[in-house]
Amino acid sequence: MNTNTQVKLAKRPVGLPDDACWSIEKNPIDMLQEGEVLVQTQFISLDPAMRGWMNEGKSYIRPVQIGEVMRAGTAGVVVESKNTHFKPGDPVVGSWGVQSYAVVDGSVMRPVQKVDISFTGLPTYLGTLGIAGLTGYFAFLDVGKPNAGETVLISGAAGAVGMVVGQIAKIKGCKAIGIAGSDDKCQYVVQELGFDACINYKTQDIRKSLKELCPEGIDIYFDNVGGDILDIALTQIRKKARIVICGAISQYNATTAVKGPANYLSLLVNRARMEGMVVFDYQDQYPQGIAEMSKWMKEGKLKTKEYIVEGGIESFPATLLKLFTGENTGKLVLQVNP
Ligand SMILES: NC(=O)c1ccc[n+]([C@@H]2O[C@H](COP(=O)([O-])OP(=O)(O)OC[C@H]3O[C@@H](n4cnc5c(N)ncnc54)[C@H](OP(=O)(O)O)[C@@H]3O)[C@@H](O)[C@H]2O)c1
Repeated sequence: MNTNTQVKLAKRPVGLPDDACWSIEKNPIDMLQEGEVLVQTQFISLDPAMRGWMNEGKSYIRPVQIGEVMRAGTAGVVVESKNTHFKPGDPVVGSWGVQSYAVVDGSVMRPVQKVDISFTGLPTYLGTLGIAGLTGYFAFLDVGKPNAGETVLISGAAGAVGMVVGQIAKIKGCKAIGIAGSDDKCQYVVQELGFDACINYKTQDIRKSLKELCPEGIDIYFDNVGGDILDIALTQIRKKARIVICGAISQYNATTAVKGPANYLSLLVNRARMEGMVVFDYQDQYPQGIAEMSKWMKEGKLKTKEYIVEGGIESFPATLLKLFTGENTGKLVLQVNP
């Protein structure tokens, strides 16, 4: 029998997580009990949120403990089953963490789900039809509350969440303006995904570009990055604007105090609303979100893209860092070599 390679949290990081934060172990695979299934990992989701889960302290989810297998969204295949709902060969998704195999309970809460791969690949269930896409879907529709004709600004536009938000904005009849970190990413979201425009925040003056692209101002700012970009967006909002605080990747590795928005009084002047969201609050509605996004995908209205890095489980620490250097266009996924 194969052994299970596991990546465990060894130390809490200060700034970017370095190699000392991880221990890589090889352990035997547990025996299956009645109701359980053995899954083999094929794809691991890399998420900016992982950086937060490595920190001590109160958050929306329990921190990963030192010595624990790192939490991660995962996709793979059933290799053995003692559960009537699953058979060897079934494609499944779950969150069994950064390890090559896992024994999961298939009977109670269903921590593994079978998925339909007849119209899209398995990694899509870690991106557009996974937590990232569901975040974009519920945060934009339920918190952003778009109306046709409104102008939507999306930071992190070429990433897993941002690319979904911009496309849903177009489906809902809005004008979608992206912000991303390279000309290639900007070109991708405009030419491939149908955004109306995109600003390269590394080379362009965001404030000036926004004045040109949307002189009437922004109705919805979908924030994935926080920091300076949030502050500039605040200066360009319209009356009754909605600012969706989805994430703040520019601040996740900060070793000094998080940079908050200095321009928050714009909320007062514009009678605007800024609201945070956590996707887990929508868990009961995931099937509805997946069904609607699958329908849009089949109709050709919603495109998906995964940025797949190949390597062993051991490549996880280095792959995670790619999120913070902006290497990925679309959803960053580690494809695990057998
Ligand atoms: N609230 C929730 O429930 C929830 C759930 C899932 C994700 N999120 C949040 O949603 C956001 C996007 O997540 P994702 O999975 O879609 O990641 P992603 O956008 O696919 O990947 C991260 C991207 O962030 C950009 N970035 C990195 N450092 C940056 C910086 N200092 N300033 C500006 N941009 C930077 C990079 O693109 P560039 O090349 O464009 O810089 C990078 O490619 C994250 O903040 C994440 O925490 C929230």
